[in-house]
Amino acid sequence: MTRRAPAPEDFPNLPRHIAIIMDGNGRWAAARGRPRTYGHRVGARSTRLITEECARLGIERLTLYAFSAENWKRPREEVDFLMSLLSRYLVRERKTLLENNIRLEAIGRLETLPAPVRRRLEDVIAASRPNDGLSLCMALNYGGRAEIIDAARRAMQAGLEGALRPEELDEARFAEFLYAGPGVPDPDLLIRTGGDFRVSNFLLWEISYAEIVVTDVPWPQFRAPELHRILREYGRRERRFGGLGPASAPTGSP
Ligand code: IPE
Ligand code: IPE
Ligand code: MG
Repeated sequence: MTRRAPAPEDFPNLPRHIAIIMDGNGRWAAARGRPRTYGHRVGARSTRLITEECARLGIERLTLYAFSAENWKRPREEVDFLMSLLSRYLVRERKTLLENNIRLEAIGRLETLPAPVRRRLEDVIAASRPNDGLSLCMALNYGGRAEIIDAARRAMQAGLEGALRPEELDEARFAEFLYAGPGVPDPDLLIRTGGDFRVSNFLLWEISYAEIVVTDVPWPQFRAPELHRILREYGRRERRFGGLGPASAPTGSP
């Protein structure tokens, strides 16, 4: 018997914005006696399937931690492999992303990515800009502290140009200087695959009130059924934002 795929109505409180630390590729491959790169290749398949599933469920935004500012510390061969995998992913997925009405975005210090990656990234971002379905945001050469520093620099620049007075800078104004730009909701749900309980410099500003779920499932094995389980768990959480009831809204939100 085949079970029907769950519909959005099957989840009581779907998050608007999901952020994922896609971790555990290397360990998953090593446990199978394969090189770490094999884990990254199978992980790219999870990326595709999870993106499509989020689009199908009507999730507004999915932010994926694909390469951290600290990942350059890895052996040259692994970094090169990850960059070429990303490049190939952008070429291969272009059509599917466009067909699924997905809008690609990227956050991080993108200017230091290899030129072919940057070119392909810019191409898909531009081609998918008119789409109004899922926003898929790739965190590339991304560091949470670097993002806050870059936002502070932009705020200072605006100050120097006379566009912002110090007393006008509040949380909402500051958030507009973050990489994703104005109007982007904070993640409601942060998932980390691969079992480690840390944030590894991901979205430090944005996750202040995110619900966190760590799953032991490594990223190459993370597919729709585990996402559904986590969405059900998220639906049972009571978000209080420092208040006393589930209706309490975060500061600065309507
Ligand atoms: C996540 O998997 C992918 C990237 C960080 C690019 P890892 O490569 O960190 O795999 P583990 O955590 O070592 O198993
Ligand atoms: C976080 O995973 C970065 C990405 C998933 C891209 P890492 O494997 O780099 O994190 P640490 O080193 O275990 O903290
Ligand atoms: Mg890791």
